Amino acid sequence: MVKVTVCGAAGGIGQPLSLLLKLNPKIDELALFDVVNVPGVGADLSHICSNSTTSSHLPSAKEDKTALADSLKNSDLVIIPAGVPRKPGMTRDDLFNINASIVQGLAQGIAETCPDAFVLIISNPVNSTVPIVAETLKKNNVFNPKKLFGVTTLDIVRANTFISQLFPKESKPTDFNINVIGGHSGETIVPLYSLGNSKQYLDKLSEEQQKELIHRVQFGGDEVVQAKNGAGSATLSMAYAGYKLAESILKALDTPNVVECTFLNLDSSIKGASEAKKLVGNLDFFSLPVKLGKSGIEEVQYEILDKISDNEKKLLEVAVDQLSKNIEKGVSFVKK
Ligand code: NAD
Ligand code: LMR
Repeated sequence: MVKVTVCGAAGGIGQPLSLLLKLNPKIDELALFDVVNVPGVGADLSHICSNSTTSSHLPSAKEDKTALADSLKNSDLVIIPAGVPRKPGMTRDDLFNINASIVQGLAQGIAETCPDAFVLIISNPVNSTVPIVAETLKKNNVFNPKKLFGVTTLDIVRANTFISQLFPKESKPTDFNINVIGGHSGETIVPLYSLGNSKQYLDKLSEEQQKELIHRVQFGGDEVVQAKNGAGSATLSMAYAGYKLAESILKALDTPNVVECTFLNLDSSIKGASEAKKLVGNLDFFSLPVKLGKSGIEEVQYEILDKISDNEKKLLEVAVDQLSKNIEKGVSFVKK
């Protein structure tokens, strides 16, 4: 029996993400929480003849905590795409002032109601909202670093698509599973095209073309924000990416060797995390490929960092510098 809760379920990401979750045969119960419009979304999804039940939870007033608690009760996996998206000209960090409090409130609800759940954070700025959730759970003495995931999967999805678009005759996007490490904003996003089957294609590109490809992955979010022209950021590709990570986490409950990249807390209780931390400027949070298992993140595949190219090492230095500020901003928000 698996119960999944989506917080922000009536939003641009929340709706298609909930649709995908509704179709997953491993999920028995889908709980939808939002501060607006969620009864309609729930009623709509509930007519789908898959084998899960659907419930909707809308607070009756700002102070009403019952709706959130009801949605989270007995939840095994909570996905959070709640909060405001970017408009053209904004950075993800510009969302901090609004989204930090939203995410902190939801994390407090998780700490009180379902502290053992897997928690997947989509709300931006991910580089800061994940530390906010970790700190909030720590404050409540319920933090399990193996179960907290910053969702960076969209960067991998883009990295796979964009390289394939350069070689349409020789490749398909599904041929690739590029590791993208670091964080989830601009130059903190580091795609590792020099590893695995993408290297043969990377080598065919000029230095300038390689730069353009990497830049496109790092700033792929801006393409969508500009195309939507004020109506938000990526929602459909994000729903697909968020679902993909959730699906892998559920798959790993009964299947060995499931690996995904995620922005995680490099806590020493996780195998390989201390080694990783030393290689990424002692940062507490970083996105790396991790092996998933029954209890969540089983092992960080830090060895990958020894294999990256000189150019990727340079990109990593820039990422580490920016990330440390983003992480500190999230941590101090909760500590203050
Ligand atoms: P949206 O505005 O369409 O939807 C957000 C939803 O959150 C709304 O329905 C809103 O009512 C709800 N919400 C607000 N406060 C809430 C609260 N306290 N509790 C529950 N729900 C609440 O926005 P969107 O396009 O779905 O984007 C959501 C977030 O995801 C943004 O911060 C965006 O930047 C981020 N995002 C992240 C990634 C990523 O790769 N991690 C990709 C795309 C978007
Ligand atoms: C993305 O990468 O598409 C998201 O983080 C949304 C954004 O603001 O770009």
